[in-house]
Amino acid sequence: MPASSTAPASVADTALAHHVRQGLSHTPKTLSSMYFYDDEGSRLFQQIMQLPEYYPTRTELGIFTGQKAEISQALRPAGNKPFRLLELGAGDGLKTKVLLRHLLEQRAAFTYEPVDISGGALAGLAESLQRELPQLQVEPIETDYFSALAEVRQDAAPKAVLFLGSNIGNFLPDDRQQFLRQLSSHLAPADRLLIGFDLQKDPRLIRAAYDDSQGVTAAFNLNLFTRLNRELGADFDLKHWAHYTDYDPLSGAVRSFLVSRRAQTVHFTALDFSVPFAAWEVIHTENSYKFTRPQIEELAAAADLQVVAFFTDERQYFADVVLAPVQ
Ligand code: AVI
Repeated sequence: MPASSTAPASVADTALAHHVRQGLSHTPKTLSSMYFYDDEGSRLFQQIMQLPEYYPTRTELGIFTGQKAEISQALRPAGNKPFRLLELGAGDGLKTKVLLRHLLEQRAAFTYEPVDISGGALAGLAESLQRELPQLQVEPIETDYFSALAEVRQDAAPKAVLFLGSNIGNFLPDDRQQFLRQLSSHLAPADRLLIGFDLQKDPRLIRAAYDDSQGVTAAFNLNLFTRLNRELGADFDLKHWAHYTDYDPLSGAVRSFLVSRRAQTVHFTALDFSVPFAAWEVIHTENSYKFTRPQIEELAAAADLQVVAFFTDERQYFADVVLAPVQ
């Protein structure tokens, strides 16, 4: 949409507009990584997942490939009972397909129900599943995670819920705990929850994963400005900004920033809003937390969940953790 001073009131009223006004009005300035994922952002994230430095995706895929039988066993209800396999934020399903293929080979009775608020993402996934695994029963659910779980809860069939890729690491600690509590409140005793956690490791390896040598992660972070220029008529000049990231081994947080390389003012035409930036002032755009096993156990316990299986790789870079309600 072209920038215009007579932009419809609806643009200024979107969740993105509210978020930008709020996040850029206080110090330190923040914008949420939630808004990274427009079409270009999703494409760049696909590229990140292939980078030599970005170990999480290929490590989790390795865990799924090497331990699919054990993972399936930990997720399935006893006695080959039918179950529903829900996946929150399904993406391209690369890792899940390994599990789905195995479950089909085992003749497990289940439906696969990917949950996403993006109809486009679900359609792409359903189409590739139809092609690759035609015998799979797929029931995409186009809504937010909790509406999906609330609706499914009425059902008698046990469910296994997947939340992969260390997406849990993108929450702040309080939000993470609240998210897990909410998830837990939707689980019946026989249900299972599998969460992918990126583990703490050599800090230099972690940092490199968020500051790759080809600059793809920088482009991913900076793309947020391209989005704001397009959707809110902002005039961010990307050459006066830089991507910066650090890893703090004490808190386990990778934090990503967009750094203003000089004093400048950015104007949002659609919001009738201007933001001054001092030289080297930052906007905090993302958190990617890394975990230890005791932290995961503590997080689970505070949500009335217990760890029933802990799958990790040889180097213990990543963990797929199966949780169950505390009985
Ligand atoms: C989606 N999420 C788990 C990724 C992560 O590792 O925090 C997003 C990402 N940001 C930069 N690189 C990848």
